[in-house]
Amino acid sequence: MTTGVDTIRIDGEEIPFKPGQTIMDAALAAGIYIPHLCHYPGLPPSGNCRLCIVETGNRSVAACTTPAAAGQQIISDTPELNATRKAITQMLFVEGNHICPSCEKTGNCKLQAMAYHLGMLDDHFPQFYQRREIDASHPEILLDRSRCILCDLCVRASRDVDKKNVFAIAGRGTDAHLIVNAPSGKLADTPMAVTDLAARICPVGAILIKEKGYEVPIGERIYDRQTICETGLQEYTDKPIIKKYQSK
Ligand code: SF4
Ligand code: FES
Repeated sequence: MTTGVDTIRIDGEEIPFKPGQTIMDAALAAGIYIPHLCHYPGLPPSGNCRLCIVETGNRSVAACTTPAAAGQQIISDTPELNATRKAITQMLFVEGNHICPSCEKTGNCKLQAMAYHLGMLDDHFPQFYQRREIDASHPEILLDRSRCILCDLCVRASRDVDKKNVFAIAGRGTDAHLIVNAPSGKLADTPMAVTDLAARICPVGAILIKEKGYEVPIGERIYDRQTICETGLQEYTDKPIIKKYQSK
């Protein structure tokens, strides 16, 4: 029992929260992992992947955008909610070009790790076979839109941390796509640098650093060594990474 501070309960476990924290913030601070793909500690939430769906007061809400409130009872880790998360992950897989064995992000990819975490054994839905523009114009960075899951992380990292505003998401629904803020629309005509947070935060293989793809051998990559739960909690603890970028 926690006394003297406001608390919420997640799957029956009582945890404290500070004013202004979301359910996701409070959960991660307490060492409770709620699946997420478009959330990154230290960046403003965007609430667009819906992986962090939880239930509170008979409503389904996104944990990353919903403020924690005293006495809230939250349900997160149930077979039903994990089945919904798995279906969302399957939709993300078929909507883009996520052929893991031929992608150089394999083993470092959050979408792939999420699929393993949720016990996804096949795509279930028919493939869209999207054909989207690849931008190889930048000398050090490749943008392959066919693997973009529109998580908006590069948009926020570039705007809020790198202070360069290189990316934006244009269009809505099935027309939504990532654009580059340059008259030519090409990455080479932006100030984006390989050291930017935006160049490193992509959870999938849509933004890749050129000529580094196999620097870490398969078998020794992030999700060969730890689960996405461990990475998610570690990213919260390591928030100074964001602070380091912010002080650039
Ligand atoms: Fe997210 Fe990567 Fe697409 Fe940017 S390029 S929106 S970081 S998936
Ligand atoms: Fe909350 Fe993506 S992590 S909607």
